[in-house]
Amino acid sequence: MIGKILKKFDDRFLKSEPRTGDLFAVAALFDTPDQIIHAAEKVSSSGYKKFDVLTPYPVHGMDDAMALKQSKIGWVALLAGMSGTSLAFLMIWWMVGVNYPNIFGGKPFFNLPASIPIMFELTVLISALTLVGSLIAIFMKLPNNANPIMDTEFVKRVTSDKFGIYIEAADAKFKLEEVRAMFEELGSFSVSNIHEAVYDLGDTKNPLLSNKFVGAIVVTSLVTVGITYFVLNVLLFLPPFDWMHYQPRVDPQTESKFFKDGFGMRRPVEGTVARGFMPYEFKGMPDSMVVATPNPLPVTQKVLDLGKKRFDTYCSPCHGYYGKGDSRLRGQFPVPPSLHSVKVTNWKDANIYHVITNGQNTMPSYASSISRDDRWAIIHYLRVLQRSQNALDSDLVGK
Ligand code: HEC
Repeated sequence: MIGKILKKFDDRFLKSEPRTGDLFAVAALFDTPDQIIHAAEKVSSSGYKKFDVLTPYPVHGMDDAMALKQSKIGWVALLAGMSGTSLAFLMIWWMVGVNYPNIFGGKPFFNLPASIPIMFELTVLISALTLVGSLIAIFMKLPNNANPIMDTEFVKRVTSDKFGIYIEAADAKFKLEEVRAMFEELGSFSVSNIHEAVYDLGDTKNPLLSNKFVGAIVVTSLVTVGITYFVLNVLLFLPPFDWMHYQPRVDPQTESKFFKDGFGMRRPVEGTVARGFMPYEFKGMPDSMVVATPNPLPVTQKVLDLGKKRFDTYCSPCHGYYGKGDSRLRGQFPVPPSLHSVKVTNWKDANIYHVITNGQNTMPSYASSISRDDRWAIIHYLRVLQRSQNALDSDLVGK
């Protein structure tokens, strides 16, 4: 039953066209492994070079019988494998040791034992891909992707229950009659000539441009795109695949019934002190209580650049890029006074630091969003702004 169906399929799709091209090779079939070993020995010792043996399973001693040299593909595997190992090593070392150091369980940033599985994986991956790629490209001499021996009665037999050998017509020693006679003498029950296939390309010269081929590519890509779109944008949002969307969770800025105060986002527990961090000692105190500590940062181009960056990000929305109080919030927040007032100009750096850290009336504290050093850098930059916006004639060079 199944055999019949397969036969129908064969007849419909796999029927080989009659071969009309040049002679490619002479092929011979044998019944037993001993015969094929003997045939291989005879062919290699007679000086033929372009021949191959095909058997349904590996036959021991065949490499010697064919006088095969060791394949160079092992070297490709070695090189590719070694580059996989070192690539993985460099990648992990750079990622977790240099670019994004993160503490996991108190271990060193770059940790060799933990990296070995990945080094192993990349070794295998890169050598396997390189092997297949170079096999096709170099050893099989791309763009050759088929051998005329394929799709012949000969190959059907050697992939099933017979042992076959063929000698290519391109071999320097090849003489049709001699080769046929030798195979028959060796006891082959079937010697056949194999011709190159000549394909009917129809009107198109280039099979890549045939309407059928281009159409198949277009249809395949449209179908793939359609299925991908459907799965990722529709199916995953339908039950039962949508369970991930309905996890119990709290989104930022939303309320939560879990806590008494109804806030989803939590503040640190009162009095919490972060590791390695001293709380601001004048928190909540009036400006007059602040002890004037000097700005710890030097005035350098780097510090001023940083200060400008942070000022433009955090302060300019309300104070304006020049600190003149030209708020960009269009009246949605109280407009602050100019930072060029006599008061702020005469203030010590510590007083400005106090306002940024502690907040002042409607201006909130920026202690949690701007680091301490960045705050001091902003103050240096603010001094530059004050100077530049209130420059005197005598400040000009040459006066
Ligand atoms: C959300 C808007 C807003 C932002 C952002 C903001 N401020 Fe203010 N700032 C104000 C307001 C409003 C006042 C006036 C508060 C008051 O009424 O005392 C003020 C006051 C000040 C004062 C005191 C001025 C005075 O004359 O008393 C200083 C100094 C100051 N801000 C510096 C900064 C710096 C530096 C930044 C950036 C880190 C910043 N502000 C970010 C709104 C803001």
